[in-house]
Amino acid sequence: MRLLNHLFEKNKQWAERVNASNPGFFAQLAQQQNPDYLWIGCSDSRVSASQIIDVAPGEVFVHRNIANVVVHTDLNCLSVLQYAVEVLQVKHVIVCGHYGCGGIRAAMQNREHGLIDNWLRHIKDVYRYHQTKIDACETEHEKIELLCELNVIEQVANVCHTTIVQNAWRAGQQLAVHGWIYSLENGILRDLDVCITRPEEISRTHRLS
Ligand code: CO
Repeated sequence: MRLLNHLFEKNKQWAERVNASNPGFFAQLAQQQNPDYLWIGCSDSRVSASQIIDVAPGEVFVHRNIANVVVHTDLNCLSVLQYAVEVLQVKHVIVCGHYGCGGIRAAMQNREHGLIDNWLRHIKDVYRYHQTKIDACETEHEKIELLCELNVIEQVANVCHTTIVQNAWRAGQQLAVHGWIYSLENGILRDLDVCITRPEEISRTHRLS
């Protein structure tokens, strides 16, 4: 119970498998990481970044929190973004939400969930911005799915509004910010087609001159 031996056993087998198929993999990767992608996703155990896009360790830098929210004052998320953009020079930031997100569902309710309600407030804001459109959906299920999508689009904008991303663009760095959504039901990703690659594509209010 205290040692979780089965996890260490699985880890050992995994490391042996990787080494067998690619000798020197770990030694080489230990020297440096050079990922092209920053993934900002949900903490949900079913939405594991590198597994979904089937990439090996070293290919994707990851930040996850409940409902893949990018908050302007969240030092954790901003630090990840800054390191990924400025130091690792990733070429793509992917905000990936998922249908059936518990955080989104909780944000649509009016009952208390404890501390997390303060985090979910940010999603309630997204709901409020699009209330007419969401409330026009026929079923509760459709409302949640739509808010899952709209939340991704909002967080893509939040990534672009940071000084980090805008300064990178200003310095001529190639950086695209994408909004994707994942289906728990079939394991398939969908591009929400909201890719932003330059400051002219964001709102004037947030644009740095
Ligand atoms: Co979720």
